[in-house]
Amino acid sequence: MTLADKLIKEHTLTKEEYIELLNHWGDPELKEKLRMEANRLRRQYYGDGIFVRGLIEFTNICKNNCYYCGIRRENANVKRYRLTKEEILECCDYGYELGFRTFVLQGGEDGYYTDEKVVDLVSTIKKKYPDCAVTLSIGEKTYESYKAYREVGADRYLLRHETACEAHYNMLHPDNMKLSTRLQCLRNLKTLGYQTGAGFMVGSPNQTMSTIADDLVFLQELKPEMVGIGPFIPHHDTCFANEPAGSVDFTLFLLSVIRIMLPKVLLPATTALGTMDEHGREKGILHGANVIMPNLSPLKNRKQYELYDNKICTGEEAADSIKSLEKRVATVGCHIVYGRGDYAG
Ligand code: 5AD
Repeated sequence: MTLADKLIKEHTLTKEEYIELLNHWGDPELKEKLRMEANRLRRQYYGDGIFVRGLIEFTNICKNNCYYCGIRRENANVKRYRLTKEEILECCDYGYELGFRTFVLQGGEDGYYTDEKVVDLVSTIKKKYPDCAVTLSIGEKTYESYKAYREVGADRYLLRHETACEAHYNMLHPDNMKLSTRLQCLRNLKTLGYQTGAGFMVGSPNQTMSTIADDLVFLQELKPEMVGIGPFIPHHDTCFANEPAGSVDFTLFLLSVIRIMLPKVLLPATTALGTMDEHGREKGILHGANVIMPNLSPLKNRKQYELYDNKICTGEEAADSIKSLEKRVATVGCHIVYGRGDYAG
C-alpha cells in the first residue's frame, strides 16, 4: 500500500511517513489522488456548500512582536486603530443584513480589550443575534479568561499554533513567547468546549518538511474542529521582509492532506491564499477547503490590518465582495451557505 493509500484509509501517518509523503508532493499523480479524495470528503460531509464567516478585525494594537507579522509591536510604521464597541456592533448589523450568521472577532493582543470588555462584547452580540455564532481570535489568554468568554456564549476560537516544532517556533517569535504556552491554550480551548482552530503558515522562514510533519502529527493529536493554513507572505516592515513567500501549490497539497486527516474539519480557503493567486480560494475549495472569511471591517481601517504585503479585499465593501464570492464559488460547482456553519460533529 502506498503512503497516499494509507492516509486515505487510516487518516493518519507517522511523522516519518509524513516526511516521506511531503517529499513527494510535486508528483502530479500523488497530488491529484489526494486532491480528489479531499474534494470527495468535503462533499460527503458538507455537500457543495461553502460556509462564510464575517471577519471583523477590531484592533491592530498588539503587545507581541512575532517576527513575521506586519502588526507586530515594534513596527512603528503601522497606523494603529481600535474599533469601539459601537463600531463593532455596526459591523455585525451590516453583516447580519448581508446574511452572515458567524462573526469572527479578530485582533492583536490589545490590553485595552480586558476580559470585562470582551465578555461585554460577546454577550451583547449573542443577545442581539442569538442565531449567530461568535468566533474569537484574540490570542493567548488564561484558562479563566477563555472560560469567561465561553460562559457568555463564545462558540469558537482561532489560535494558530504557527509551528509545532519548538526550535522553529523560537525562530519565528521572540523569547517571551513559548510554544508550550500556545499548545496549552489550545488544549484549554478544547476542554472548554470551543470549536477550536489551530493552523500554521506554509513556507514560513526555516520551515522544513520535518517541521510540517510535526504540524500534521500535532493536528492529528489535537483534533481541532478548524484548521487555518495559508502561504507565508513577507511584510516589508518585518525581520522577514526579504524572505521568499510560501508556495500556493504546496499550500493546496497540504489542504488536501489536512482534509483527509480530519475529514469533517472546517477548513478555510484563506485570504493569504487568495492574495498569492487570483484564483487561490477557488483552488482551495477544489483541494478540500469549505470555508471563506470575507472582511466586514470598516473600509477605512482595512489597510491598517496588514499582516503581510498586498493583502486582498482591502478596498471593497463586504456586500460587493460577497457578490463576487458567490460567482467565484459557482465556478467550482459550489454555493455559499448562510447559516452558522458548525462543525459536522
Ligand atoms: N504571512 C502570512 N500569514 C501571516 N500571519 C501573520 N503574519 C503573516 C504573514 N506575514 C498569519 C499568522 C496568524 C494569522 C492571524 O495570520 O499565522 O496566526
